[in-house]
Amino acid sequence: MTIGDRMAPLEGEAIETLRGSTIESVTERSEPLRVPASRYTHQAFADLEMQAVWPRAWQVACSADHVARPGDFFEYTVGRLSVVVVRGQDGELRAFQNACLHRGNELCSGTGGGLTELRCPFHRWSWTLDGQLREVPSRKGFGVIRSADYELPAVQVDTWGRLVWINLDPDAGALVDYLDEMPAEVAWADLDDFRCTALLTTEMQCNWKTLIDGFSETYHVQGIHPEMLPMVDDVNSPQVIWDHVGRLQQPYGIPSPRLRNPSTQLQWDAFVAVMGGRLGLSDPADAGEPPEVPDGSTMRDVLAARIRRHSAEAKGVALDRFTTDQLLTLLQYNVFPNVTILVFGDLLQVVKSRPGTAPDRCFMDIVAFERAEPGAPDSQPATVSLAKGDVDLGLVLNQDVDNIEKAQRGLYQPGFTHLSLSGEECRIANLHRNLDRYIDAHGST
Ligand code: FES
Ligand SMILES: [Fe+2]
Repeated sequence: MTIGDRMAPLEGEAIETLRGSTIESVTERSEPLRVPASRYTHQAFADLEMQAVWPRAWQVACSADHVARPGDFFEYTVGRLSVVVVRGQDGELRAFQNACLHRGNELCSGTGGGLTELRCPFHRWSWTLDGQLREVPSRKGFGVIRSADYELPAVQVDTWGRLVWINLDPDAGALVDYLDEMPAEVAWADLDDFRCTALLTTEMQCNWKTLIDGFSETYHVQGIHPEMLPMVDDVNSPQVIWDHVGRLQQPYGIPSPRLRNPSTQLQWDAFVAVMGGRLGLSDPADAGEPPEVPDGSTMRDVLAARIRRHSAEAKGVALDRFTTDQLLTLLQYNVFPNVTILVFGDLLQVVKSRPGTAPDRCFMDIVAFERAEPGAPDSQPATVSLAKGDVDLGLVLNQDVDNIEKAQRGLYQPGFTHLSLSGEECRIANLHRNLDRYIDAHGST
């Protein structure tokens, strides 16, 4: 299915959602797709999302490493919704709504291990890790409490790609269907071999969509990441939109057509500055002379060979089975509503956004992974929240984060009524198409 086919439903009145405020789209994008700014600024739209989307969409709660051992748990929050994911003593992964059935107190917070039960700290009711009522202090005082009436409300949970996904809707379809073509397309990358190193959360002063939109297009490379232009083809980057998922395919290790014949030195310096760590050159000052490119070979082949060598020597991880394309063409998947997954053969990174306490607040979660050899032990990821000013995410992500709050502030100006999207920004359009779909089906009138 082509992008054009999938974009068709964005047109016209079928997508009208926020009352009196519609996305304006024109057939075949003879004009920009126009998205009301109010979707990013109004509490009313945030309320619709909270009603229609977050209780029904599949979302990444944490990495598989966070809940690898019996008794491990992770509390996932989105708005006022809270889910506890827990690995049972039987090894099964389960998830429950995070509320004690006595008077509603949260059962768990944060993440950790060693649980043998879910015990409410307020009056100490407790449940087994599979959600059965276990103990009620002074039980007789309640009269008859039938344990079967007090099982914790289950939440759907599944894993894919070393990620733990939850869905609060018991009737939601299976995760594997939700993920469209992505699992099959990226099967070559053996994502199960990655191990999580860190989950970093930062509060941002922007709408959750403003954040994830910045990870749904690379049109902005020439604007805020000009240092990347000598090392990435940001123009010839095919995208496809399936249903919940869209994908970008972007070649690294070649210059942007926006530049005229950049020197090999410039290309090499840019690659080292942006992702030298993949070559074992974490300090751009160590870039030195560009490597020789033998006849019949390309700079991408040479970079791929360096990545393989560095991985084998520094980490003991073999990458020989991955081709130049698999190591140097980025696959970036955007999964509705709030997740982007970036894949090279040696690299997996997940960025997601969650709504905050107001339409112009959100949480950015960065889930970092390292490739390990097949069968490697589970890791113990660092899980931290940091203030924005205390986070150094590297050249490119720092530039993204620095710009995103400015992108939000402009949305409030009275003369700015709509965002205008190009075909290149089709993954943002797909987010809105899916928002419309969920709100049409589940939003109140
Ligand atoms: S609210 Fe949990 S035991 Fe009372
Ligand atoms: Fe960016």
